[in-house]
This record gives sequence, C-alpha cells and structure tokens, in this order.
Amino acid sequence: MKKAVYIRTFGCQMNQADTEIITSLLQDAGHAMVSGEEEADLIVLNTCAVRENAVEKILHHLDRLRGEKRRRPGLLVGLIGCVPQYYREKLFSMSEGIDFLAGPDTYRRLPTLIEQAAGGARPVDFSLSTGETYAEIEPVRKGGVGAFVPVMRGCNNGCAFCVVPATRGRERSRPLPSVLHDVRRLNASGCREITLLGQNVNSYYDENCRCAFPELLDRVSRAAPDARIRFTTSHPKDISPDLVRVIASGENICNTIHLPVQSGSTRMLELMNRGHTREEYLERIAMIRDVIPGVTLSTDLIAGFCGETPEDHRQTITLMEEVRFDFAFMFYYSVRPGTPAARTLRDDVTEEEKKRRLNEIIELQNAISGERHAEAVGTTVEVLAESESKRSAARLMGRTKTNRVVVFDRGAAGPGDLVTVRIDSATSATLVGTPV
Ligand code: SAM
Ligand code: SF4
Ligand code: F3S
Repeated sequence: MKKAVYIRTFGCQMNQADTEIITSLLQDAGHAMVSGEEEADLIVLNTCAVRENAVEKILHHLDRLRGEKRRRPGLLVGLIGCVPQYYREKLFSMSEGIDFLAGPDTYRRLPTLIEQAAGGARPVDFSLSTGETYAEIEPVRKGGVGAFVPVMRGCNNGCAFCVVPATRGRERSRPLPSVLHDVRRLNASGCREITLLGQNVNSYYDENCRCAFPELLDRVSRAAPDARIRFTTSHPKDISPDLVRVIASGENICNTIHLPVQSGSTRMLELMNRGHTREEYLERIAMIRDVIPGVTLSTDLIAGFCGETPEDHRQTITLMEEVRFDFAFMFYYSVRPGTPAARTLRDDVTEEEKKRRLNEIIELQNAISGERHAEAVGTTVEVLAESESKRSAARLMGRTKTNRVVVFDRGAAGPGDLVTVRIDSATSATLVGTPV
C-alpha cells in the first residue's frame, strides 16, 4: 500500500542530502511526500548518533510518536541513518513503537522494508557497502538558493571519539561524471550555490578518472559558472597546497574553509588519532592565509576529551587566540561506546569541568567572532541573498563569499540575487548593512 510519508531529518548535512535521495527513491516507488507529521501515515526519522544528546533528542521524539501511534492506528514509524546503524536491534527495546530500522547504505531497500513493516513484520537492514554512493539517483531537492551535492560517503580516519566510521562505513567516492552531471543540471536550473559534501572531502578520489579533490573542485567550479561553490568537511592532515591554489584561483569558489582542529594540544590530538600536531595545523593555517588573502576559517572543538588536563585546555585557548577563527562549532566530549576512545581511554574529566571548559571556549570564540566582524564595518561586500530575515520581512539574510551572514534592507532584491551591501554594524553572529 502506498504511503503518505514525512521524513524528519536530524544531524549533519550528509543526512539532509540523504533525505533528498530517499525522497527520490520513495517517490519512484509510488509513495507521496507530505509536509508535516500530522498528514503522514509513515513517519521516517533520519537520525544522528554523534553525541549522546543527539540520540536523546531522537528517543524523546520517539516517545512523542508513541502517543501519536495510539491515537492513529496504522501509523508507521521508521528509524533510519546513523542511530540504527549504531544501536541496531537494541533500539526495539530502547523505544517502543518502531516499525523498521535501516542503516545509511540500505536506502534502495526502503520500499521493501516499508512493505514488510506494513504487513506487520519489523524488518531491519544494517548492511554497509563499500561501493554505494547513490550516484545515479536524482535527489528531490526542496528548492531554495543552494543545493548539496554529496561527493563521497563514509570515513576511514578513525578519530578516537567518533562514531561516524562505524555508522557510515568505509570511504568511497562518487564517480566524477555523475558529480558533474548533477552540478551542470543544478547550474542550468538556476541554482546559485553548490556545497560539495563528504565527511572528509579532501580524500575524494575517482579511480577511473584518476581525479582527486583539487581537480574535482576545479571541474565543478567550471561546470557551474553561475553558482558559488563551497565544500565541507576538510581534514587538516589532507589539506594540500594544490587544493588551496584551486580555491584561490577559482572565481566562483568561496574563500572559506572549515578545518576542524578539535584541540590545541598535540598530546590530545595524538590521543584523538587526528594525524597531525598543533604546529602542523598552524603551518597549514599560515599556508592557507598566505595563498588566499581574506580567507575566513572555521573549526570544530571538543572540550574535556579523555585525559585533558588544564594545560591541554589552555593550549586550545592559545590556539584559538593565535588562529582567531571566524566561527566555531564547540562541543563537550560525549563518550560513545564502541569507539576507540571508549575502548582504550578513560572519560576522566568530570561533566561539570567539561561544561566549564566548553563555556570558556564559547565565550572566547564569541569575543573573537565579534572582533572579526567589527573589522568588516565600513567595507562593501557582495551578498548572495538567501531568504527573508527571521525578524523582519522587510529585510533579507544572505552570505558573503567568505560565509559571513549579512542582514540588509531588501529593497527590490529577493532570494537568489547578488547584492552589494555596505556594512554598517556587526554582532558576533551577524553583519548588518545597507544595499548600495
Ligand atoms: N568529518 C568531519 C570532521 O572530521 O570534522 C565531521 C565529523 S563530526 C560529524 C562533527 C564534529 O562533531 C567533529 O568535528 C567533532 O568536533 C564533533 N564530535 C564528534 N564526535 C564527538 C564526541 N564523541 N563528542 C563530542 N563531539 C564530537
Ligand atoms: Fe569522525 Fe574523524 Fe571521520 Fe570526521 S574525520 S567523520 S571526526 S572519524
Ligand atoms: Fe550524525 Fe551520522 Fe552525520 S552520526 S553527524 S548524522 S554522519
């Protein structure tokens, strides 16, 4: 029986891109997508297991859906993505009311799993693949100014704290012709911003075409000359001078790099198995800034990883002061059973201390972001308008090529337009300006 399906997406941009692929697969199988849980007779949660609180959020949502299921007989609930891949059948005892479970490499089988679930079975599929990239599936994108284009899946890095290698399996790259086909289509359809996605995009490699990430980025930027090109995430140990040169020379490639460092202490980086030292990271930053003047840099930081001493924490603070990131995602360490850290290291920083250290780095980053933004006051920037500003329909929100958020009076402009804006004021999160 065909279903009215609502997919709720948690977690990273890879999950958002997967939801667009799943939408395509389910529509091809005759199911219809609806715009809210109330209208659905199948609710699919596409889930994230990266930190404990991400999982709690999903279990909490499942609790709510259990009540819905009592009120609406016949309503099916499927759990897909990283949480089922991580917890497997155990989930059936962690939460009632789940009708099927499917990991990230099994989405082609979803129509079958749905049919079995509708027949009263509780099917599961946790197979991981070494080759699946869903390459030829045309994602059903929501529309809007930008689009995600996944270029690789999985991760071979094995950072000690991270579930992703377990939930997403081995690294594999989407064939170059399929990426270029997608990108050309997006360009022709008026897409203004393309973000290439992968857990570690620098290790992209198409064996048939002998194409690595710098060449891919160059080819994509030429194939979509009307769009801005972004990519995420890069791993510091793999960022090469070649790649940085491509970014600097590509007219439409955004001058911004997200380069997660996690910690400023070489001792921590070693325990985390990140494959580089503090000094090597700083050298890469200097190389990037040398080749791409005006580049903006963002990062991810973890406070309170196993064995982190006050001195290790201080090293994170001094690294932040030295680099002066424009933006950072900051977390306190959440032990994930089964990961290398959980198996071999002690989670010995108290929760209270983890939170104290996290607050300290958040405060510092807010101050640095504010100062960096203040430097932009008085300059004129080109903004790609994305949407109405949250606070006022008379204003638009957009981003500069360096990924800075700008809010400005809309005038005659609309989403998708490039607008030249003079920056009048700034907070740590936003620049505010006037079109000129
Ligand atoms: N592949 C990307 C990378 O290497 O940065 C992103 C990986 S992960 C989805 C995003 C961020 O979550 C990581 O960079 C890390 O800062 C954080 N993270 C991962 N595992 C964590 C854990 N167990 N506790 C706290 N933060 C974690
Ligand atoms: Fe996780 Fe490290 Fe892979 Fe990023 S590079 S997904 S943090 S294992
Ligand atoms: Fe979460 Fe899986 Fe992404 S664990 S961060 S949804 S790859």
